[in-house]
Amino acid sequence: MRFQWLLFKRLTSTTVFPKFSARSLCVFAVQAMDPVTVDHYRSAMVLSGVGDALGYYNGSWEFCHSGPEILEELQEMGGLDKVKVELPDWMVSDDTVMHLATAEALMEASAKDRPILFLTLAKHYKESMNDMHGRAEGLTSSEGCAKLKPNQSDGYIIPFNTRGVGCGAAMRAMCIGLRYQRPEEVDSLIAVSVESGRMTHHHPTGYLGSLASALFTAYAIQRKPVREWGAGLMSLLPRAQQYIKDTGRHVQENLDAWPYFTEKWQAYLEQRGISDGTSDPTFPQEYGPKERDDFYRTLSFSGWAGASGHDAPMIAYDALLASGDSWEELCKRSMFHGGDSDSTGVIAGCCWGAMYGYKGVHENNYKNVEYRSRLEKAAEELYNLSHTT
Ligand SMILES: *[C@@H]1O[C@H](CO)[C@@H](O)[C@H](O)[C@H]1NC(C)=O
Ligand SMILES: *[C@@H]1O[C@H](CO)[C@@H](O)[C@H](O)[C@H]1NC(C)=O
Ligand SMILES: *[C@@H]1O[C@H](CO)[C@@H](O)[C@H](O)[C@H]1NC(C)=O
Repeated sequence: MRFQWLLFKRLTSTTVFPKFSARSLCVFAVQAMDPVTVDHYRSAMVLSGVGDALGYYNGSWEFCHSGPEILEELQEMGGLDKVKVELPDWMVSDDTVMHLATAEALMEASAKDRPILFLTLAKHYKESMNDMHGRAEGLTSSEGCAKLKPNQSDGYIIPFNTRGVGCGAAMRAMCIGLRYQRPEEVDSLIAVSVESGRMTHHHPTGYLGSLASALFTAYAIQRKPVREWGAGLMSLLPRAQQYIKDTGRHVQENLDAWPYFTEKWQAYLEQRGISDGTSDPTFPQEYGPKERDDFYRTLSFSGWAGASGHDAPMIAYDALLASGDSWEELCKRSMFHGGDSDSTGVIAGCCWGAMYGYKGVHENNYKNVEYRSRLEKAAEELYNLSHTT
């Protein structure tokens, strides 16, 4: 059993008791995570879809720029527990459709033959574009998919793209971490997340987001304390860069564009005081919906928080750091904010479900979520694959 540390959390759980931290802040330890079972895989996949659908709200919240307004609307609906996440009003967006494409490719192809696995991913991404009606698919994703040729041996490779910095790669990669969840499989996790990412987002800011989403999900399964995840990511970036060099494709362009992702993450981790990977995070005293919107915007590439490869997993991470085992708090921070809230929600929901299952989540939120049975089937198969091969 591990312990999860979190700060300034509203005391909702009976398992909460105060502790003293080195920074003289009030810190609470929440006994939270049970050993991993197939149920955690199921809730990870299903709550990723829920996080997506909640953040998307038929397109009207993904593009709403005010967290306080969204929370007010939510209040008018009767609060989170009253929200029945189901069709027609709460469809999943392109995020879940493409996340399922990743998962179903991982189920179909043997992990041992990487070129075949990559072509299978390419095939599923291409096919996913037939299911985008009303789901606001990203332009870079659809343009990337149009270039994929799954029937040709190198058909998963697309040119470097100076504009491929969006979060389209990050939002669909979490299940790669469910598949390669063991610490000793991290090289596979890097290779598969990077290649899956650069099939549409061939730019480090884009595909390193894919690495971050996959890695954080694997860390959740490993029961690694959340405050260590950011430093873990930083420690693996040189290995990801080595992978790019080893593949020998578009190496110079990738190296030239490399620093942005690393610098943004370094700055963020320093701000939270967790770049050492051992300290507890610190948050501003005033950090409500308005302040979070403002802060998330400072992380962004061009003002739309969570829309890029570096900041979608970053905002999800910020929410996970502060929410502990509170589903409602997680939703407020990662799904109901003024940025690209479905992309941050899909990542946060997956990691949270991997850690806490359905703890405190009202059935309304997930019982009838679109594609629930596909999400659960993928979860079960990924669990089996990752625990047998
Ligand atoms: C959401 O979108 C679906 C499909 O486009 C539509 O049928 C439904 O009425 C929409 N709901 C709301 C609340 O806009
Ligand atoms: C690729 O191959 C499959 C099966 O061999 C075939 O059904 C499909 O039409 C081919 N696609 C293209 C784009 O050639
Ligand atoms: C996973 O493995 C279990 C136990 O062997 C089996 O009962 C189940 O059908 C498998 N699930 C899938 C989706 O393959």
